[in-house]
Amino acid sequence: MTYVVIENCIKCKFMDCVEVCPVDCFYEGENMLVIHPDECIDCGVCEPECPAEAILPDSEESTQGWIALNEEYADKWPNITAKGESPADAEDWNGKTGKKEHLSTNPGNSG
Ligand code: SF4
Ligand code: F3S
Repeated sequence: MTYVVIENCIKCKFMDCVEVCPVDCFYEGENMLVIHPDECIDCGVCEPECPAEAILPDSEESTQGWIALNEEYADKWPNITAKGESPADAEDWNGKTGKKEHLSTNPGNSG
């Protein structure tokens, strides 16, 4: 099992999640984070911290389609262990549908 970052993270990228993960298993893209499925220990502490409700356990139906994306980009993007600056319009994007087309595959650089 693992926890999974899903669509509503895109262009919100609040990063509260990285501050609480005990094993630092978040990886950063330009406008989204993902969780490394082999490193996540299923503690669940990140789920309630996300203001966008964009983190769920992979047992939830709505993570289907996002599990492979988390796995792929956890290997391509840099590790992130501290909260950086969220997009200025993050709140405007919270809850919007059809965000997947806005996903940037570029790596992030908050560190
Ligand atoms: Fe990290 Fe725990 Fe969230 Fe997994 S469930 S990403 S280990 S905080
Ligand atoms: Fe994304 Fe939520 Fe973390 S919006 S960066 S999963 S706090």
